[in-house]
Amino acid sequence: MSPLPTSSPGVRPSEFRFRCISCGDLRETASQDFRCPQCADLLEISYPSWKQFAPSPQNLKSTWRDRRLSSKAIDRSGVWRFRDLLPTLEDASQAVSLQEGNTPLYELPECARISGVPGLFAKHQGMNPTGSFKDSGMTVAATFARRAGFRWVACASTGNTSASMAAYAARGGMRSLVLVPEGKISWSKLSQALDYGAVTCQLRTDFDGCLKLLQELVRRAPVYQLNSINPFRLEGQKTLAIELLEQLDWEVPDHIIVPGGNLGNSSAIGKALLELHELAFIKRLPKVSVIQAEGANALVRTLREAGGKSLVSVPAETRATAIRIGNPASWKKAVHVLESTGGACEQVTEVEIAQAKAEIGAEGIGCEPASAVTLAGLRKLVKQGFVKSNESVVLVLTGNLLKDPDFTIDFHRGELFPGDESLKNLRRPPVVLDATLDAVIRTLEKAGKS
Ligand code: F0G
Repeated sequence: MSPLPTSSPGVRPSEFRFRCISCGDLRETASQDFRCPQCADLLEISYPSWKQFAPSPQNLKSTWRDRRLSSKAIDRSGVWRFRDLLPTLEDASQAVSLQEGNTPLYELPECARISGVPGLFAKHQGMNPTGSFKDSGMTVAATFARRAGFRWVACASTGNTSASMAAYAARGGMRSLVLVPEGKISWSKLSQALDYGAVTCQLRTDFDGCLKLLQELVRRAPVYQLNSINPFRLEGQKTLAIELLEQLDWEVPDHIIVPGGNLGNSSAIGKALLELHELAFIKRLPKVSVIQAEGANALVRTLREAGGKSLVSVPAETRATAIRIGNPASWKKAVHVLESTGGACEQVTEVEIAQAKAEIGAEGIGCEPASAVTLAGLRKLVKQGFVKSNESVVLVLTGNLLKDPDFTIDFHRGELFPGDESLKNLRRPPVVLDATLDAVIRTLEKAGKS
């Protein structure tokens, strides 16, 4: 059987190179630590061939639309559907996919009203196969891991990366090694890694300690690292922005607001937007803003205290455990995105996160705590006048509500921030009753009055 071409006729495949984000060094291959051999900074994927053969926006927009009706496995993926702007595969069957992407864009009318903006959307990446945005990057990086012949893949994680990596490794016939901080990730996420067959190590350190150890490990052992330092991850995560714009009929929103942890996702979204702008898919750029938890605010401090020139690391602490990161690897890429799109960087308190999460939940959407920083951050940005009352806003919800049930249950039972009056009306504690009709009717009547 002849291999299936991965691009449509008339669209040239994207040949790529590894480019250092600091010194611009350009190479065909990268070493296992994904660092520049000249200056040790991070790499990104670049497409020098686009200079000569720029992909045509008109052709691609219609190709991508057509693929939505296709029954081919590769077209069913909301990541590989946009493969013309991703590193090329020789053969469509190489893709390790779980039909990721294709995530919904929801309107949030009540959250819009509370925040004081006319149009508010949530791009819900928590609706991916393993429940987080990591899947869109993992499909690309796992594909290239398998293509390079690796038997083992590995990551350090606050939970979602490990769940996603374990699933894609299993689908791709590879083994996976997970390094997570002991006692600091949710059981839901840990249970996913176990079920998908990962070798799971709970290390007595934090996320930053796990990542440091992983970087040393990949220099010693033949394992392929799948953290977002791996630039293939960010290529896949770019498709969030492409799919979002397609869902908006290529009408560019004024603002996109993203949670910030290790800062891979904000970097990927920004890279996609800058590429789409350069290739004339869009005429203007949305402002990409990054929101962090106050207790894990390395990027906020890097900008405020060092003008974005050097990283200010912090000892990280937050109940939004997905973003409990004090030494973000992709900080330079994120600073570049903020500077080139004109976005803001803000921090929000633990109470603000809990409140925003309950408000998103009350719209029937739900998300994990780390995702809710976006709505809490939007409130702040509106108050500061950075987001104007006539501007459109998209929040990127990164993880599913079911990723961290302990947080949600503690919140509604009143065990999280007890006594905080601002949260009172949002709590919906379960009630234990005798199994009588009277008791249920009384509860119904009481709830009807509140
Ligand atoms: N939201 C969720 C739900 C996450 O899991 C993460 C990161 C982020 C936001 C932050 O994204 O790191 O690209 O800035 N989770 C990682 C993990 C680090 O290991 O699962 P980022």
